[in-house]
Amino acid sequence: MPPRIVVVGSLMMDLVVRAPRLPLPGESLLSHSFETLPGGKGANQAVAAARLGADVAMIGRIGRDRFGEILRTKLEEAGVSTRDVSVDPEVGTGVAVPIVLDSGENAILAVPQANLKLTPREIEAAAGVIRSADLLLLNFEAGMDAVEAAAETATQAGVPILLNPAPITPHSPELLAKASVLVVNEVEAAAIVSNVKGDHAAELEALRRFAPRAVVTLGAGGLVAAEADGGFAFPAFPVTAVDSVGAGDAFCAALGVRLCEGASLFDAARFAAAAGALAVTRPGAQSALPSREEVERFLADG
Ligand code: RIB
Repeated sequence: MPPRIVVVGSLMMDLVVRAPRLPLPGESLLSHSFETLPGGKGANQAVAAARLGADVAMIGRIGRDRFGEILRTKLEEAGVSTRDVSVDPEVGTGVAVPIVLDSGENAILAVPQANLKLTPREIEAAAGVIRSADLLLLNFEAGMDAVEAAAETATQAGVPILLNPAPITPHSPELLAKASVLVVNEVEAAAIVSNVKGDHAAELEALRRFAPRAVVTLGAGGLVAAEADGGFAFPAFPVTAVDSVGAGDAFCAALGVRLCEGASLFDAARFAAAAGALAVTRPGAQSALPSREEVERFLADG
């Protein structure tokens, strides 16, 4: 049976600008191109997990507008259940402005809008879906009371949580402590454990005071990870980067899928790193997410 994964988080329309560099304050900078593409950390993770073979349900909130309709359709096309994607009558669908540089690196301005109107009431309405899941994938791009409520519902039902606290936002230490696996990038690691910035061993040790398993993704630098049995690091797969938007979401989803399937943290992280590497070789967030076959072929050819 495929793993049942429930994602609580954001759906956003990405207004993607490709630019030679980030503009300075006060500057207008001529850029290369513009595209409107489906994104949002939650929706990206949901589509990624579905493409990797999981049975996925999304809990989130959109506005009553064209962007919301498109995002719902994209999830459904990927086979994700959208029964618990609710529509806010007043606030528009979330939008993000990823600026993608020639190097493939990105910086993102995110305006969550309707995502912030996801409340504990919607989580309560979908509690049965959370309770019957094998894993809750959770990010911080939605209303934080809803994020807390989802984590509490999963914890009470014994459902493990893979928490990706992105974008980093004020949160309680108790929320981090509900995670079975904490996945952070360098920015998020530094915000959570500010006194050991850049010292990855110390970062992992500090993150593991919250969660039994911790992973710090380092972009082109690969990753470091730790659990009770010890830690490991490996370099990034060498690929030509086109667009890194959504690569972290591909990583989280792939890690979650393989952990649900019983893989070790090391094997799951390697599979996830391959999914993330493939995602940076193509433009867009959801449009770049690889299938299970692609990831397995990439690892086999490795
Ligand atoms: O993680 C990438 C996502 O973050 C983008 O798709 C954008 O929507 C932002 O929310």
